Amino acid sequence: MNNRQLLDLAIEAKERAYSPYSGVKVGAALLTTSGDVYCGVNVENASYGATNCAERTAVYKAVSEGHTDFAAIAIASNLDDVIMPCGICRQVLLEFAAKDIAVIVGDAHSCTAYALSDLLPSGFNRQSLKGE
Ligand code: THU
Repeated sequence: MNNRQLLDLAIEAKERAYSPYSGVKVGAALLTTSGDVYCGVNVENASYGATNCAERTAVYKAVSEGHTDFAAIAIASNLDDVIMPCGICRQVLLEFAAKDIAVIVGDAHSCTAYALSDLLPSGFNRQSLKGE
């Protein structure tokens, strides 16, 4: 599974977004270190704060199936500009980044990879809790 293939799965997944309020369709495709892929979409709610981003949907699906170590996540949307993961999703991804996680963004024509450690430097993780 290369970056382009993972991004194509995210592009495909975004069509299943549930976003009647914002109209923003986001899809994510999460690659586990064992090679499995879990897709997710944003799921909005009439109580707006209950909305779940596509990235977290994918993470929670994967964790529910027993996967807790991820290698990469691709994200796509129907917006003109490339979509970057929100702060909450970066934090949730950090929890499951035993090494680092590649964050792949783009569209049908472009595909760019960032390191989660660059998008969330000095993040708070389980090591931060040591020394309580
Ligand atoms: N959204 C995501 O799914 N992922 C992000 O990283 C940013 C925002 C969704 C949440 C909401 O349904 C819509 O995009 C507009 O904020």
